[in-house]
Parts: sequence; structure tokens; C-alpha cells
Amino acid sequence: MTGHSDTSHEDVAGGPARHVPVMLNEVLSALQPRSGSIFIDGTFGAGGYTQAILDAGGDVIAIDRDPAAIAGGSALAEKYPARLTLVEGRFSALDEIVRDIPGEAGRETVDGVVLDIGVSSMQVDEAGRGFSFGKDGPLDMRMESNGPSAADVVNRAEQKDLIRIIGILGEEKQASRIARAIVKRREARPFETTLDLAGLVESVLGRKPNDRIHPATRTFQALRIFVNRELDELADALVAAEAVLAEGGRLVVVTFHSLEDRIVKRFFAERSQAPAGSRHLPPVEAAEPTFILPRRAMVAVSEAEAKINPRARSAKLRFGLRTGVQPRADRAFHTAPALAALERFANPSARGSHVQNA
Ligand SMILES: C[S@@+](CC[C@H](N)C(=O)[O-])C[C@H]1O[C@@H](n2cnc3c(N)ncnc32)[C@H](O)[C@@H]1O
Repeated sequence: MTGHSDTSHEDVAGGPARHVPVMLNEVLSALQPRSGSIFIDGTFGAGGYTQAILDAGGDVIAIDRDPAAIAGGSALAEKYPARLTLVEGRFSALDEIVRDIPGEAGRETVDGVVLDIGVSSMQVDEAGRGFSFGKDGPLDMRMESNGPSAADVVNRAEQKDLIRIIGILGEEKQASRIARAIVKRREARPFETTLDLAGLVESVLGRKPNDRIHPATRTFQALRIFVNRELDELADALVAAEAVLAEGGRLVVVTFHSLEDRIVKRFFAERSQAPAGSRHLPPVEAAEPTFILPRRAMVAVSEAEAKINPRARSAKLRFGLRTGVQPRADRAFHTAPALAALERFANPSARGSHVQNA
């Protein structure tokens, strides 16, 4: 699923379609699952990657923060009781999750970690989740069922905070105009639904008949990333994967837009070379690389797949192989944008809107 497209995707029966796994062949060829090995699928979703790893003989610990995704995986978990462990949780804590699993599946190291960043087709297609600017639903966008919602942010954030959230996380050049219009409109009536916000953004930016993307695309992307702390989650997950991968283990990450890809690219670039010393500074103890990058460490989605699955069109895969040296654990590769703290927008009167612990 793309990080931000909103193409409607219905199955023949008219219900929401299951998520079509993106770049599956490329993921398998980078991950190389085989029997006797154990893999973490940090973004279980509809289980497309997990199923393929199981089919190839690998065992899986599958994580998703969305309770609905975990519930949807129960039949698969029953089918493979000894080979699949499903865990509701965040991939930023995948190292702790793996160690805390009781019995055989709990372990110190794994042979591969795969992350497919973004939202699933089920999340976008279900109007009630509030991710879609094309379907009317509550302005929610939370992958979990707690924490401040998109409506809390839109109705409570100061104009200057909205400008930064929409401008930085949505890469939206018109963020100031949109934020000003949001603040003016909410004085009269708070935002409650997706179409309400989408309509406001469209009224500010206008829409030409042959515009390929909806004018609210970038604003919705920004709110979704902010509400789910997606960039920090990704950075933390890379560090957690570094901590838990065995020597020779593989880290494979599929992303859908430049903000995410930049984090993954910088992580692998930094971790695959010893930091250069400076002649102006005292000599530093050179940290050994924690990853080796293969020759084709970045693979873009094929034209054929992008044609069949428009949601895959911006997908990029990056991967690396873990060396045997100690994990570095630092997060210098990720500079979190200076944005208001999400907790500030918690709405104590809203059900399920209590502050997250992370
Ligand atoms: C693009 S879908 C994954 C689809 C999956 N690869 C498949 O083939 O069905 C992304 C999934 O990751 C989950 N997710 C996003 N951020 C997460 C996080 N920080 N921790 C755990 N799960 C997360 C979402 O809830 C969603 O179900």
C-alpha cells in the first residue's frame, strides 16, 4: 500500500479488498527465507509477506499495531501454531517483543526483519478508520485505538503548529494557506469528518479537472504520519532490527515516500561505513560497519507491478546484511523534525483518546 495514495480498491463482491502485497518477489529475493530460519514481519497487515515466508519454510514472528490486523490473522496463526507467532505491538519495540515471547519463539536473534511501511488497503478502504479523503468517515487516522486522533490535531493545534505539520510531513507548499483556513473554519464548527477536511483543503487549493491527485493528499499524509508518529517509529525500528539480527541476517524495508526512504537510506549509508575521522578533531575510535550493502541495495517497483497495483507506484525497497559487530544503537541518521508534541492534542473528553505511553 502506498503511504499516501487513496485509490479505491474494491473486490468483486463489493467489500473492501484484501491488501495486495507490494514488491513481494523482490522482498523474498532480498530476505531469502528458508526452513529452519526465523523472521520478523514487523508490518503484518493482511499477512501477504508472512504467508510467503511461511510457504518458503521460514518461521515468522509477525507484529502489527492495529488490533484489526492482528484479529484478521487469527486463522493463519491457527493454521501454523508452531511456526507463526502474532503479536499486537509497535515495530519500534521489535527487539523487546521478540525477547519477551515465551518458549521456543522467544529468542536473542533472528535471521531477517521485513518492514512494509505505511497503511494497508483495509485501513484506507474502511471509511470508519478515517484515513481516506475519498470516503466519509470520522477524522481519525489512528492505527491503534488510542491517542489523539487527526480531528484532535486539526481542532486543537495552533496555526503555527499546523503549518509545520502539514508543510514538513506533507511536503505541502501551501501549508500556511491551508492552516489559516482550518483555524478560521473551526472557530465556527470543529472538524469531525474526512470529507469535511478534504472539502476545506479543496476549497483553498482548487482542483483542475485533470489533476492526478486530490488536493488534500498531502494534508492527509501529514496528519496520518503525525498522529501515528510514523517517522520516529521507523527510525526506532531500524535500530531495534540492528540489535536483534544475527550475523548474516537481512533487513528489508519497503517505503512509499521520500520522508521514509530518506531515513532508511541514511541508516544504511551510515551503518555500512566506518565514520570518517576529521583532521580538525581528535581521532575517534572508528565504529565497525553493522551492515554490508549488496550491489543492488535499492530496488524500485517494476513498471509492470505499478501498472497492476497503482498503490505500489512509488514503492522502493532497500536492504542490507548484518555483520557480526556490536549494534551501534545511535540515531544520528534521523533528525526528527521539530514539531509540537502529539500528547498536547489529547482530548480528555474523547473516548479512546488517552495519551499514548510511547
Ligand atoms: C502496508 S501494510 C503491510 C502489508 C503487509 N506487508 C501485507 O502483505 O499484507 C502496513 C501495516 O503496518 C502496520 N504498522 C504501521 N506502523 C506500524 C508500527 N509502528 N508498528 C507495527 N505495525 C505498524 C499497519 O497497521 C499496517 O497494518
